[in-house]
Amino acid sequence: MGRANKVVLAYSGGVDTSVCIPYLMHEWGVQEVITLAADLGQGADMEPVREKALKSGAVESLVADATERFVKNYAFPAIQANALYEERYPLSTALARPLIAKLLVEAAETYGADAVAHGCTGKGNDQVRFDVSIAALNPNLKVLTPAREWGMSREETIAYGERFGIPAPVKKSSPYSIDENLLGRAVEAGVLEDPWAEPPEDIYTMTKAIADTPDEPEYLEIGFKQGNPLSLNGETLSPVDLVSKMNAIAGNHGVGRIDMIENRLVGIKSREIYETPALLVLIDAHRDLESLTLTADVTQYKRGIEQTYTQLIYNGLWYSPLRDALDAFVQKTQEQVTGTVRVKLFKGTTAVVGRKSANSLYTPDLATYGADDKFDHKAAEGFVYVWGLPTRVWAETMRK
Ligand code: ARG
Repeated sequence: MGRANKVVLAYSGGVDTSVCIPYLMHEWGVQEVITLAADLGQGADMEPVREKALKSGAVESLVADATERFVKNYAFPAIQANALYEERYPLSTALARPLIAKLLVEAAETYGADAVAHGCTGKGNDQVRFDVSIAALNPNLKVLTPAREWGMSREETIAYGERFGIPAPVKKSSPYSIDENLLGRAVEAGVLEDPWAEPPEDIYTMTKAIADTPDEPEYLEIGFKQGNPLSLNGETLSPVDLVSKMNAIAGNHGVGRIDMIENRLVGIKSREIYETPALLVLIDAHRDLESLTLTADVTQYKRGIEQTYTQLIYNGLWYSPLRDALDAFVQKTQEQVTGTVRVKLFKGTTAVVGRKSANSLYTPDLATYGADDKFDHKAAEGFVYVWGLPTRVWAETMRK
């Protein structure tokens, strides 16, 4: 009796997930492996991926085009929460995991599988995100994790695959470990493991080197409706088109590179390079529009909520009662966040240079230093007296 009868395996077309297919069948007694490859806008041709799974022994090879769901239901809420892990990483990989988990569970339910599987190792965050998300969505499904248990080196994995007709990578495989989708790329390993080593230019594909960027700045007007990005330079775009277009425009100006040492949930520090042009510009613009349209207390209170929200996405708790509750808060705040932000892209930088909104709480009559100032200066005197009263009493007592 095997560990499961029918399994839906998250499939990328790489050596590891391909080897998972015969491994599940021959070592763990699985009868049928159905693979599921998620198209999240990574720009790869999915047909060879689909075929490779069948050649590797899958009975059925599914490709799920989930790019629109990804952007609308995962990326946009994260933008509304201004989610930047450790103040920098906009969670491009982390956001994809709960969606892939959902696709796996949906397929398992459709095909009557008793388990799902993924090819994560035991060292990363992604295993946590998959396992916890799957448990949250269907606690009756088993989760099989061959690569976490097989203990094979890279060479052994390739050799194992060759026994089952899985070809070794043709070109000398890249020294990097790369994850990518429409939101961005995450690159680690190889020379990047030395935190002192500057990333070689050839790891980047979405962003230009500063030396190659235009010598003129480019202005972009980003329209938001209730916290969701809606238009670029006045043209309404679908979420996927908007993000694609912004990736191209911001990447062309070298905007979107992140080089950071990050703290994984599993206790390891890792050096990661990200390219997330659109997301970084969108979060910067969105946060600015909030400053214009939200009251001081909501703006400031929300920053704390954002921290927790970000942390729980990173830590695999997308499907959790806490995220649901925080999301209700975030959604409520977004009702007013409608307007346009003007952004200037130039030589690797993005800067908000203008913002406007019908819901703007910015009051020129109050803010101005000119003659038409409506602010009651006299009232300030009494306010400052009362505000400072506790401090005055303290000083009078202590400094006698
Ligand atoms: N460290 C990032 C995260 O936990 C991304 C990991 C992506 N994988 C990779 N091979 N670079 O979200």
